[in-house]
Amino acid sequence: MSDGNGTAPTSRIAGFYKAPVRERVALLGRVAAVDGAACAYFAGGGGLSVEVADKMSENVIATHGLPLGVGLNFLVNGRDYVVPMAVEEPSVVAAASNAAKMVRGAGGFEGEATAAVMTAQVQFDAVPDVDGAVAAIAAHRAMLFALGDASIPRMIERGGGCRDLDVRVLDRDEGVLVVHVYVDVGDAMGANTVDTVAEALAGPLHELVGGTLGLRILSNLTARRMVTVHARVSAEALGGAALADGIARASRFAELDPYRAATHNKGFMNGLDAAAVALGQDWRGLEAGAHAWAGLGQGYKPLSTWKRSADGLVGRCELPLAVGTVGGSTQCHAGVRAAFEVLKVADARTLAVVLASVGLASNLAALRALAGEGIQQGHMKLHHRKSEGVTP
Ligand code: MEV
Repeated sequence: MSDGNGTAPTSRIAGFYKAPVRERVALLGRVAAVDGAACAYFAGGGGLSVEVADKMSENVIATHGLPLGVGLNFLVNGRDYVVPMAVEEPSVVAAASNAAKMVRGAGGFEGEATAAVMTAQVQFDAVPDVDGAVAAIAAHRAMLFALGDASIPRMIERGGGCRDLDVRVLDRDEGVLVVHVYVDVGDAMGANTVDTVAEALAGPLHELVGGTLGLRILSNLTARRMVTVHARVSAEALGGAALADGIARASRFAELDPYRAATHNKGFMNGLDAAAVALGQDWRGLEAGAHAWAGLGQGYKPLSTWKRSADGLVGRCELPLAVGTVGGSTQCHAGVRAAFEVLKVADARTLAVVLASVGLASNLAALRALAGEGIQQGHMKLHHRKSEGVTP
């Protein structure tokens, strides 16, 4: 995106915080190259018409509003992103922007996402010969993939399709097993696609394994659709070595204690969810996946960690993230379309990396406040700064 003066693209927009709301929209147009339709939508106050809402959900009586803001200063894999964020909690947007500015000073966020491979589950109970069933499924992989692919022709046209399959024996004595079918869903979130594959393969799988057919549904623990992000931040940017030490100790606390990890992860998801809501993503699915991942293995763990480096901190997060740039409300909700016009991500994998970066920024901001002045003082200071019109 251009700043309108031919200088380098940026998500650093001077004076944004203190500008009146209408001027902020104009700044997005001028500095962040947000198009006229999106700016007109924002300038009109945003929202959703009751007519569209009535098509999206049931028993609709009105629409429900949230503040929509933008996270600034995000440099991710060398590119600037202005991040739309819809959230009711004060300070989430400012804190994430503030932390993104600190990380920016050390080169920004760096991350990658795997291919968008979703997991379909088909459950069987009372399978008479578990080992025979496992062997039969393995012997018919190609046939099963062909049937699965045939059920999702439009996804195949877009380059997606069945990629892998495995069988997990959950209770050998009772003959309980689940077949996982891994489906590349491209730039979609993909729930409908994998549910279709699960239902299409249920009958053929049942013929192979016998027993009683159970559920046919996606797993929200999308362990083959992962995102990893790293960030560095200097002690100087944080406000000193004592704060860097304090953040590293806070991170270790979350690694050692699930009670703390829950709150640590809530702070991480604060920013990620806010961006996900603005961008029309299934944030319940993201929450389910993130916390299930945090709980895999021995005990509930933090989604992100911060460790001391020679000159500051190194942060890292890893989590499953099923987000899409096509389908769902990305088509029908004008606000979601406008939010994508602001963010300007080209594909679902980039979207995952940006959202995880926002999570890491939120987490860093929370730990910095907690390791320093405390969260209540931090909030108060922010409100004070706001009334003074200081850009965070
Ligand atoms: C509040 O929304 C989030 C925090 O509790 C997160 C944390 O404790 O790390 C501040």
